[in-house]
Amino acid sequence: MIIAIDGPAGSGKSTVAKRLAKRLGISYLDTGAMYRAVAFLALKKGIDLEDEEAVTELAKSASIDVKYDNVSIYSDIIINEEIVTESIRSPEVDAAVSIVSRIQGVRERLVEVQRSFSSMDAVVEGRDIGTVVFPDSKVKIYLTASEEIRADRRIIDLRKKGHRIEKDEVESSIRKRDSIDSSRAASPLAVADDAIEIDTTKMSIDEVVEKISLLVEDVI
Ligand code: DC
Repeated sequence: MIIAIDGPAGSGKSTVAKRLAKRLGISYLDTGAMYRAVAFLALKKGIDLEDEEAVTELAKSASIDVKYDNVSIYSDIIINEEIVTESIRSPEVDAAVSIVSRIQGVRERLVEVQRSFSSMDAVVEGRDIGTVVFPDSKVKIYLTASEEIRADRRIIDLRKKGHRIEKDEVESSIRKRDSIDSSRAASPLAVADDAIEIDTTKMSIDEVVEKISLLVEDVI
């Protein structure tokens, strides 16, 4: 069983998806972490992000792995043998990731990696899970929230990790990412026809998890 959770940056996907997976006792897969890992590697190697051929070649030749601990929920993302779980959460990777993820060749490679997890029971989060990666998923959720609250959530995350960043910078980074993610030709961020939309602006995490759990119970 795959539960697909899509939505823009800061909509609460990761926190909700992890808690939901824990509550249901199934795995959690963060597909954004894979795009971030490719962006991180491209930056590290000094590859021009606009050079689609070079970035595609990098994504296709890199080994990309997700390592689960024994409860299968919390995981590390590994690219070319390097654990990058923490390093992919920087403002530099934030700025690079949407550029890299609009490249068709990168998407083809990562969708293939993501589908290799199809035999697991998992909550899978991303931008195109319900529309492209697992269109047959039993439950599809699309999370949204106001731009302001999404920026606030992102600032809290970044500051917890020690990044000093101003609110207007975060707002502009989120706006830029939203615009690239939604307007790109290859698998843009979109609501699947059969997805249930939840606006989390005024909801607590527990309320969102509760709501999705009830939807899951209806299906299984
Ligand atoms: O969820 P996130 O912020 O970690 O995702 C980082 C970027 O990766 C996001 O700006 C767009 C891209 N992404 C994507 O294109 N498709 C996915 N399934 C997941 C993420």
